[in-house]
Amino acid sequence: MFYYSKISEVYFMKRIITYGTFDLLHYGHINLLQRAKALGDYLVVVLSTDEFNWNEKQKKCYFTYDQRKKLLEAIRYVDLVIPETNWEQKKTDVHEYHIDTFVMGDDWKGKFDYLKDEGVEVVYLSRTPEISTTQIKTDLNNK
Ligand code: CTP
Repeated sequence: MFYYSKISEVYFMKRIITYGTFDLLHYGHINLLQRAKALGDYLVVVLSTDEFNWNEKQKKCYFTYDQRKKLLEAIRYVDLVIPETNWEQKKTDVHEYHIDTFVMGDDWKGKFDYLKDEGVEVVYLSRTPEISTTQIKTDLNNK
């Protein structure tokens, strides 16, 4: 009986996925993760690896992948952190992790609408104004 109820809980869970670098974790990230989790029951964060950031986005992170992963895992809204190593994996991740809803900040608005063809809902959440990792780095450099 207990076993059956556990299985049905997992089966009916609404699963959310989001992607990002989350370097120098800040309150804009927390707002995003909180609202993403509120859309369902289980939140998967796909975290860009250091190589992916450097090769594909020309971004050098302050914290390593393992450090960024550890920070994200300590957040109550986050259930699972997995690596992002390429642009194409979204199409397979949503099936592998039985995702219902794909979430990104609205700086990416429209860019991932193609995932609707994979059967997932695509949601863009408004960004928290006036904060970003880039902004933090610039501000600290100017101090
Ligand atoms: N995000 C947000 N509000 C902010 C900053 C980020 O909602 N003020 C969201 C992004 O839209 C994305 C996720 O948080 O869905 C991860 O964003 P990321 O690019 O890692 O953070 P940024 O602070 O935008 O970093 P950068 O300045 O390097 O682009």
